[in-house]
Amino acid sequence: MASLLRSWILNFFLMMAVIFGKAMAGGYSTPVFRPTAWKLAYATFYGDVTASGTMGGACGYGNLFSNGYGTNTAALSSVLFNNGNGCGQCFQLRCVNSRWCYKGSPIATITATNLCPPNWSEDSNNGGWCNPPRIHFDMAQPAFMKIAQWKAGIVPVAFRRVPCIRRGGVRFAFQGNAYWLLVYVMNVAGGGDIASMWVKGSKTGWISMSHNWGASYQAFATLGGQSLSFKITSYSSHETIIAYNVAPANWRVGLTYSSSVNFH
Ligand SMILES: *[C@@H]1O[C@H](CO)[C@@H](O)[C@H](O)[C@H]1NC(C)=O
Repeated sequence: MASLLRSWILNFFLMMAVIFGKAMAGGYSTPVFRPTAWKLAYATFYGDVTASGTMGGACGYGNLFSNGYGTNTAALSSVLFNNGNGCGQCFQLRCVNSRWCYKGSPIATITATNLCPPNWSEDSNNGGWCNPPRIHFDMAQPAFMKIAQWKAGIVPVAFRRVPCIRRGGVRFAFQGNAYWLLVYVMNVAGGGDIASMWVKGSKTGWISMSHNWGASYQAFATLGGQSLSFKITSYSSHETIIAYNVAPANWRVGLTYSSSVNFH
């Protein structure tokens, strides 16, 4: 009887250990980016209804249609752009307190793909909307037209950061040469942004990459003829993911390589 009880107690503790272990492995300790509180700012629009004028922005995403961002994008004022750390971040915007707002204050969800630069020859409260310290969204026109009539030109908005929902893994667009690898990082989920990044050739250890511009990172290393892995840490959630052997040994600049991993 005592031995039965002992084995029952032992089994109970084993079971609890398994459940607890699963909970830990299940990601309860994984940092996940959560929506921020709503704040007030202003929004204008640029480009036209085709959003062709929004391509090739300061984040380096190039063609926003082929790279999955489409017309739900915006250029951020310097304060939000934060030297490129704002690239890839996702925001929800609602027009508020203006007769130009659409009824029901519908939400537009956008990805930051560009910088709205300051223009000091215009007054910060009359045209120089993106001058620091202003928090401003210069939206692609189709995105703006989801929240307000375009005739408004500028509207007050409520905005908040939200996790980026992406289909598939992080993508890496390669530029550079045999001694210099420049990688544009796209389709980043979760926080959407990048704090730091490393590359590992099949014959090297992890090499720290430096920030070049927008959402691009570089390594001055000889990596030709090696399959490449990348490690990325999110700026907002501090989560780290590793994309093993994303590019094959015969990788080439000008190509984009897709991983199967992404942030939460
Ligand atoms: C800055 O504003 C001035 C005055 O409106 C304008 O002429 C100029 O084109 C603007 N510069 C840029 C880079 O947009």
